[in-house]
Amino acid sequence: MNILFRNTHERSFGTFPLKGDVLRDAMTAAIETGYRAFDTAQMYGNEADVGAVLAGCGVARGDLCITTKVGVNNITAATFMPSVERSLADLKTDQVDILLLHWPTPGGDIRQSLELLQAARDKRLARHIGLSNHTAAFMRQARQIIEGPIVVNQVEFHPLLNQDRLLAAAAETGIALSSYCSVARGEVFKYPVFAEIGAGYGKTAAQIVLRWILQKGLPITTMSTRAQNIRANFDVMDFTLSSIDMARIEALTTTGFRVVDAAKVPYVPDFD
Ligand SMILES: NC(=O)c1ccc[n+]([C@@H]2O[C@H](COP(=O)([O-])OP(=O)(O)OC[C@H]3O[C@@H](n4cnc5c(N)ncnc54)[C@H](OP(=O)(O)O)[C@@H]3O)[C@@H](O)[C@H]2O)c1
Repeated sequence: MNILFRNTHERSFGTFPLKGDVLRDAMTAAIETGYRAFDTAQMYGNEADVGAVLAGCGVARGDLCITTKVGVNNITAATFMPSVERSLADLKTDQVDILLLHWPTPGGDIRQSLELLQAARDKRLARHIGLSNHTAAFMRQARQIIEGPIVVNQVEFHPLLNQDRLLAAAAETGIALSSYCSVARGEVFKYPVFAEIGAGYGKTAAQIVLRWILQKGLPITTMSTRAQNIRANFDVMDFTLSSIDMARIEALTTTGFRVVDAAKVPYVPDFD
């Protein structure tokens, strides 16, 4: 596991599509539970709400890990840096912990967006930089273009999708993966195997799914509006799935279910 994601940072609280009071209540429950890593994006339209909660939550800034993402509408030389400065102002911080490119540049010419990302780190607007939704080929290109660490590629990762090509690219490039849509927005609950396995550990189906992802070596990002689920998603560090149960779950990756595809997001790349 990437050292950046040790301890509480390997369980990040996602904020899409939350805003306003719902966001405040969910984040408050998350902070009380122990989450210290939070994930937002320019495109979520909630950075100011996230910033307000974090500024007033009583947790020292140094104990928080804030990730945001530059949207595809802000990746030109003219728009990139002003957009990051707006994000920082909204998040009420001088520097985010992790700044990601939300999507590869539509059309596939990713060089300029990567150079701008690196420049944002050089200007200390971000402590670390990384990618999201980048394919294995883009990960390899990014490794060639960017100097210094690329700490993560945040991608859709759950037991209903085989991401072996991305895992191989992660091992090759040193760019760690982290998961989003970790419970496939509820699709995993259609498969009884998770609850069956959970019965043996005294854990819920969701906790089994999340533990599988962690044991695959990825930090997890989860989102829930319910305190009970928020707590359950955090409470996944006190058991270990056996290799037999890991393999039973792995068998489901041939399902090939994707939450985020071209029907939802018009500029998705040709995923691996
Ligand atoms: N980089 C990207 O392009 C990208 C794309 C998508 C998401 N993300 C990030 O990843 C975060 C998580 O992804 P996601 O929210 O899209 O998908 P997700 O975590 O797979 O699914 C969230 C849904 O699952 C339910 N849920 C969560 N925990 C549960 C539990 N323990 N038991 C039962 N149901 C549970 C929640 O409902 P309840 O509220 O009812 O619990 C919510 O509707 C987002 O918030 C966002 O920060 C990033």
